[in-house]
Amino acid sequence: MALKRPLVIVTRKLPDVIETRLMELFDARLNLDDRPMTAADLKAALAEAHILVPTVTDRLDKALLDGAGPDLKLIASFGTGVDHIDLDAAKARGIIVTNTPGVLTEDTADMTMALILAVARRLGEGERFVRSGRWTGWSPTSMLGARLSGKRLGIIGMGRIGTALARRARAFGLSIHYHNRRRVDPALESELEASYWESLDQMLGHMDVVSINCPHTPATFHLMSARRLRRLKPHAIVVNTSRGEVIDEPALIRALYAREIAGAGLDVYAREPQIDPKLLELDNVVLLPHIGSATIDGRIAMGEKVIVNIKTFVDGHRPPDRVISTIY
Ligand code: 8YV
Repeated sequence: MALKRPLVIVTRKLPDVIETRLMELFDARLNLDDRPMTAADLKAALAEAHILVPTVTDRLDKALLDGAGPDLKLIASFGTGVDHIDLDAAKARGIIVTNTPGVLTEDTADMTMALILAVARRLGEGERFVRSGRWTGWSPTSMLGARLSGKRLGIIGMGRIGTALARRARAFGLSIHYHNRRRVDPALESELEASYWESLDQMLGHMDVVSINCPHTPATFHLMSARRLRRLKPHAIVVNTSRGEVIDEPALIRALYAREIAGAGLDVYAREPQIDPKLLELDNVVLLPHIGSATIDGRIAMGEKVIVNIKTFVDGHRPPDRVISTIY
């Protein structure tokens, strides 16, 4: 890109150090009050910017991208998932898309493990109970959860986050099972003592805990369908720190109400930030506001990746985190 100081429009408030550096390097237009952009705001930004820095809250569909101005050359997304961007439409207009992989792996794996623990040991319920003032003291039979040690964890999507989760889960005594597009390296499989299930259907029926760690792509939309949810055992727990679209959410809610599964831990939802009110009424679910990667360390690392991608591109090189394909 020939311009030395391209117009970089950032759609959300980012950590101060990142915003400062963006302003030093580029003609950066920031969103200091962090108000999410409307479709009209995004349309105007796409028409004017040389480079756009969106986040998961910005839906860049074909209609919007088709209206992008001729100067828009790079979408440097702040985040790893790119399901909010129509990659084909971007490609058709010669717009390069980058993301920020690798730097939110450990944080997201931590949160996934936290959700597994929270659901199995009823942390949400217990916390609400204490705050309600209704706790009258210890009892041998109250608030009994499920032991994790010795149980089976089925990981759907054994990429970076799935692998980081497996390492944590082993320390808690869970045995590792996984389903993935392809089998992982034998060395990794033996390090994790992980069992590969080519058939997701078959794996589900044998698991005590199931964690969704694959990206949302056309191939993984409703991967956890009503039919697959029915394969789970009644004591099974499902956690999702990936994308809400990977689970058929109404079917999950039905299964929870019918006690066909024991509980769920959700950090992501089908129509964020809307939460199905039926989920709010369930005691056996733990609900988080999409904070899987929300650490200050991670956000700064994500911002640094965005800067490196932009700077490399502006200097005429291939940005390191160019998104080529997200096919599951
Ligand atoms: C990010 C995420 O916080 O990176 C992702 O794919 O889901 C989140 O953890 C978010 O995407 C930031 O845009």
